[in-house]
Amino acid sequence: MHIKTYGCQMNVYDSARIAELLGGQGYQTVDDPVEADLVILNTCHIRDKAAEKVYSELGRLERIRRDRGRSGAKQFLIAVAGCVAQAEGVELVERAPFVDVVVGPQSYHRLPQMLADSFQSHAARVDTEFPAESKFDHLPDIHAPPGAAGAFLTVQEGCDRFCSFCVVPYTRGAEYSRPVAAVLAEARGYAKDGACEITLLGQNVNAYHGDGDDGTPWGLARLIEAVAAIDGIARVRYTTSHPADMDDALIRAHGEVAAMMPYLHLPVQAGSDAILAAMNRRHTADVYRRIVERLRCARADLALSSDFIVGFPGETDADFRATLRLVEEVGFAQAYSFKYSPRPGTPAAALPQVPEEVKRERLAQLQDLLDRQQRAFNVAFLGRTVPVLFDRPGNRPGQLLGRTPYMQVVHASADATLMGAIKAVEIDGVGPKSLAGRLSRQAAA
Ligand code: 5AD
Ligand code: SF4
Repeated sequence: MHIKTYGCQMNVYDSARIAELLGGQGYQTVDDPVEADLVILNTCHIRDKAAEKVYSELGRLERIRRDRGRSGAKQFLIAVAGCVAQAEGVELVERAPFVDVVVGPQSYHRLPQMLADSFQSHAARVDTEFPAESKFDHLPDIHAPPGAAGAFLTVQEGCDRFCSFCVVPYTRGAEYSRPVAAVLAEARGYAKDGACEITLLGQNVNAYHGDGDDGTPWGLARLIEAVAAIDGIARVRYTTSHPADMDDALIRAHGEVAAMMPYLHLPVQAGSDAILAAMNRRHTADVYRRIVERLRCARADLALSSDFIVGFPGETDADFRATLRLVEEVGFAQAYSFKYSPRPGTPAAALPQVPEEVKRERLAQLQDLLDRQQRAFNVAFLGRTVPVLFDRPGNRPGQLLGRTPYMQVVHASADATLMGAIKAVEIDGVGPKSLAGRLSRQAAA
């Protein structure tokens, strides 16, 4: 089996769970689709020509299947999962009739049955329901891959906020929080497998309100405290959050929970109140500024990341300048910025659109400012010694890549045995998107 994953970390998590589920049915993962007996595209629908990209990838897979047919070799099943599958549904098999299975993000626990049915009947199977039973109750336990330093853990899915540009409430459905016990059991499992960092995931993760064993709902802050208390867990992160769901307890936790990393991805999208209202964000630019102030009171060294959309329908030059102003005032360690992309079925798609060249120009200007802030943030680390969790081999032999508490990527000469360990690294170089450093003498000793 070969799984190709597009989009967010939640899709990365889902792909890992699909691999675990089908691994139990005898499927083994291969790197090259040409070698596979099953290819799964786990798709993303958030921006751009998502569906078109999937159709062109499907065209490539159909050619592999045709070649396979000619040589009389073994089966080649094609499945489309994720948010494009959810959005397109049966249309997908109408346009690409060679697809065997179409399965939405809430029903992929049914994949083994769907694959077997489709193989036997030579007909496509489509499931884009939001089933009453939770997929989490029907998936096998998952393990961190051997040697993994960290693990993603989905605790919340879906979204009830309906920002007017966003497909998530339609493709991922209504908000759902996993029970506390299930989350903690999974986190303990990862810790046992050797992971020392856990990233709690959700489309709107700080809206988390999972049932505790006592029958009362827990907020994200309480869940983070419990995850941080697990033996072996040294770092906890969470993503992605909505400003309006940053409650007092969560802000306090940033100062009080030692394992909570001083980095937060908190999308603001825009700096103009008129645009924020048209986006149905339910917060103003000042509300965002105040939340940041309170977070920095709780944790002075907090590094912030954000998402921005430029060229949302109706955005004037003055609106855009308000976004630049907000960026100047808040200061971001890094950020993601996008041109507004109309998503079929969302309210903003029906509004008069900003011309493409205006979007392009604004994006370039915003990214230039964000890049300068990122560079300034990174340059300030030159000469400092910071704890780095090594999580990947580097590009060169004898090199490892890791992350600081502030999510910066660090390259360092380090023995492979240090993979998964947190070591003090002295920063001695700054690249456009990463840092370079060497193990500090105490750490190397
Ligand atoms: N156009 C552009 N960017 C979008 N995002 C979500 N929907 C759209 C869209 N229609 C961005 C938002 C969100 C991030 C995950 O993707 O900034 O926070
Ligand atoms: Fe989309 Fe996030 Fe808004 Fe929910 S809160 S609708 S996931 S942008």
